[in-house]
Amino acid sequence: MDALTPISTIFPTIFPFFLCGYYNDKNGRDCIQGFGAVQPLVKTHNLQYTYADGTKVDLAGCDLAIWPRDRVAVVGANGAGKSTLFLLLLGMLRPSEGSVEVLGHDPGADFTKIRQRIGVVLQNVEYQILAPTVWEDVSFSPRNYGLPAEDVARLTDAVMETLRITHLRDKVPHYLSAGEKRRVALAGALVMQPELLVLDEPFEGLDPASRDDLIALLNTLNRERGTTLIVSTHHLDLIPEISDGVYVLDGQRGIVCRYCVEDLFEQDEMLREANVSPPILSELFGELRQRGVNAKTPVTVSQAAENLMALIRDGNGRSEDNSTPSP
Ligand SMILES: Nc1ncnc2c1ncn2[C@@H]1O[C@H](COP(=O)(O)OP(=O)(O)O)[C@@H](O)[C@H]1O
Ligand SMILES: [Mg+2]
Repeated sequence: MDALTPISTIFPTIFPFFLCGYYNDKNGRDCIQGFGAVQPLVKTHNLQYTYADGTKVDLAGCDLAIWPRDRVAVVGANGAGKSTLFLLLLGMLRPSEGSVEVLGHDPGADFTKIRQRIGVVLQNVEYQILAPTVWEDVSFSPRNYGLPAEDVARLTDAVMETLRITHLRDKVPHYLSAGEKRRVALAGALVMQPELLVLDEPFEGLDPASRDDLIALLNTLNRERGTTLIVSTHHLDLIPEISDGVYVLDGQRGIVCRYCVEDLFEQDEMLREANVSPPILSELFGELRQRGVNAKTPVTVSQAAENLMALIRDGNGRSEDNSTPSP
C-alpha cells in the first residue's frame, strides 16, 4: 500500500459523480453499480465475432454494462469466449456484429485515445512481455508516454515493489517462471495507474501466496483508487474475493447474464449447464438442501462455518439422520 501512495498522488483518479446507475441482475435484485457515474465504462450491444475459419463466438445473449469502480468477473468454460470478449474490449478484434464501447470510445477505432487509461494482462503473457529486461518491460509505458526519467523510475520501482519483483529487475523475461512472468505483465499493466484493469485469467500459474497477494492488490486498487476490475477466471471459488457482479459465458448461449455473487452461488444447475464447475460451497449447501437442511448458500468459508455452527447450535444439523442414501 505504501508503494501505491506516491503513484496515486501523481495520477489522482477522478470519476464523474452525478446520477445513479443501477444494474438489475438476473434475479431481479438491484446490485448498486456505478457510484453515481453518468454512463458505464464498458458497454456492449448484441456482440458477435466470427474468426477467419468460421468459428462464431456469440456474446449477444446479455449486453455488458460495467460501471466505474465495479469489480466484475467473467466466467465460462474453456472455449466459451472469455478471451474473445476481452480482445473485443481491447480493440484487438473488431466485432462482426454489434458494438463495443470502452471509456466512451469504440476501441477498435480509437484504442490509442484510451490505452493510457487501461491496464491489460492477456491470457498468454508471452505476447506482451517484449523488452530485454524486466525493468525495461515494466517501465515501457511511462517511457513511451515521455514521462520525465525520475517519474519513470519512481513509478516503475513502486509498482515492482508492490508486486514483489524488484529482485527480478535485470532478468531476461524469457527465462522467468510462469508466475513471475504474470507478475511482470501485471506490473506493466499497473504502472500508469489505469482506471480500468482488464485481466484475462490472471491467477493461472500463480502459487497460492502470489494469488492471495494479487487478490489483495486488486482489492486495494479498487478500494483506494476506484480502479474498475474486469477479471476472467474459471476458478469460481475465487469469485467472492474479486468480484461483486459476474457474467457467465456459455459457449452455446453466449453471455447467459449478469449475477450478483450471492445469487450466482445459488445457481449450481445453470453453472453445470454452462459447463462450469459450481463453487465448492454451492455444491455443499445444494447437497445439504437436498437432504432437507434449510440453509442458504454462503459465499465465503467463514460464512459457511458460521452457518454450519448455527445449524448445529439450533439442532438442525440432522447429524442423527443416517437414512439418506449416498448418491
Ligand atoms: N484465432 C482463432 N481462430 C479460430 N477460432 C478461434 C481463434 N481463437 C479462438 N477461437 C475459438 O473461439 C472460441 C472462443 O475461444 P476463447 O475466446 O479463447 O475462449 P475462452 O477464453 O473462454 O477459453 C473457441 O471455440 C476457440 O476455439
Ligand atoms: Mg481464454
